Amino acid sequence: MGSNSKAGGAMQTGPGPDGISEHSTELRSYGRRKGHRLTPRKQSLMETRLPELRLDLSAPAPGLSALFPGTPGQVWLEIGFGAGEHLIWQAEHHPATGIIGCEPFINGVASLLGNAERKRLTNIRLHDGDAREVLAWLPEASIDRLFVLFPDPWPKKRHAKRRLIRRSTMAEIVRVLKPGGEFRLGSDSAEYLARTLLAARNFDALEWLATRPSDWRERPEDWPETRYEQKARAAGRVCGYLRFRRAASP
Ligand SMILES: C[S@@+](CC[C@H](N)C(=O)[O-])C[C@H]1O[C@@H](n2cnc3c(N)ncnc32)[C@H](O)[C@@H]1O
Repeated sequence: MGSNSKAGGAMQTGPGPDGISEHSTELRSYGRRKGHRLTPRKQSLMETRLPELRLDLSAPAPGLSALFPGTPGQVWLEIGFGAGEHLIWQAEHHPATGIIGCEPFINGVASLLGNAERKRLTNIRLHDGDAREVLAWLPEASIDRLFVLFPDPWPKKRHAKRRLIRRSTMAEIVRVLKPGGEFRLGSDSAEYLARTLLAARNFDALEWLATRPSDWRERPEDWPETRYEQKARAAGRVCGYLRFRRAASP
């Protein structure tokens, strides 16, 4: 995870080296998929709970509320949830919202499963792979809120093509957001924040919600700190918090 991640190989069609399918056309935007060996409890959750929560991308997407118990009024999506602290916090504080999480790093998925089980959260569904597969699968105007928190910055020029936020991803984000829906992105890289703002300017339907510097320099109260952000701030890096609203017409 993070900027120190080893560069992954080019994406390929069909199962990747871990036996899990890779996105076929784009370079990997994430680093390693596996870290240290899972504890027996987490391994067991991966074998029993993950298959119950995993999205079935081989079938057309249903009305998204139907994926969750109690047909929630809103469905949110978090891309690259890492160890899942933010997603768990949101699921706990918004029990009437369904939250889809995407994360290819297996140890992160296992951590999230452990915490979801401990807190008895039922409003979570998962994709343990590339979020771009989920974006392509989602119907237009189906997501109320979308989070990309501290995406791998890939700061070296030769790795720039691995950055998740680019025009094509932004187009998919705009497509899946409901009118009035919100897109949030946090980063400790000034360059990444600036590039996100530039990419967003290509889409008239995306309105940056900042009207004064504190709107993007200070994290909103309903946006808990993530593990990556904590480390970035401890290392003295300054973080920024972007919020966009999807307007009614494109
Ligand atoms: C720097 S980490 C940040 C993790 C977490 N959001 C946080 O703030 O602590 C970026 C995460 O995005 C994940 N990631 C990168 N590309 C992704 C993709 N295409 N789909 C889903 N997750 C991705 C990585 O595996 C990694 O866990």
